[in-house]
Amino acid sequence: MRRIMEAGRLCLGLLASGRGSNFDAIMTAIIRRELNATMAVVISDNRDAAVLQKAKVHNVKNRFVNPRDFNSKSEYEQHLVELLQAESVDVVVLAGYMRIVGSVLLDAYQDRVVNIHPSLLPSFMGLHAQRQAVEYGVKYSGCTVHLVDEGMDTGPIIMQAVVSVAQDDDEDSLATRILVEEHKIYWRCLQLLAEGRIYLEGRRIFIC
Ligand code: GRF
Repeated sequence: MRRIMEAGRLCLGLLASGRGSNFDAIMTAIIRRELNATMAVVISDNRDAAVLQKAKVHNVKNRFVNPRDFNSKSEYEQHLVELLQAESVDVVVLAGYMRIVGSVLLDAYQDRVVNIHPSLLPSFMGLHAQRQAVEYGVKYSGCTVHLVDEGMDTGPIIMQAVVSVAQDDDEDSLATRILVEEHKIYWRCLQLLAEGRIYLEGRRIFIC
């Protein structure tokens, strides 16, 4: 069993493509001193992402990096790694980052890239997880915080929260209720990392 990281204040870098509500929830936890971390930088692959405005409001460094400016995914990710390392980031937080992370970023931050997905993995991986859940007819769904590996939504699971699915739910109503839980569990997982309490054995996470 291997401890992911020693206890101490986390230096976070957040990658996001859109709205940024998870960023806000994490910032709130930092401001309330419930999460022992600093938010060093927010990077988006989308020039118009609301998360960049939200970062400005919090006086957090923010960057738009256009993947089209690079010849390959590797070169793009190498640039991200340079930006993150320049800010001494030790944990990379994906929050609505609409790209599959490749080996360059994963090698630089082995077992230190985390993601949140709006379903109870391994059910409903990929896009429109909430719509998939409604259409499948499950009675419970939720959200999952996990370490990121080379697959899409396949990495070791840190924490999940369950939401019941109502008969009249649609994609949007379910997404709204799941989001409430996302905002509760993402920063808690980060705090467990900050406390040095997360261990990995195979693909199983132990919180000690
Ligand atoms: C969330 O539903 C998250 O689970 C998924 O993308 C969405 C991001 O929302 N990965 P936000 O940008 O944090 O508001």
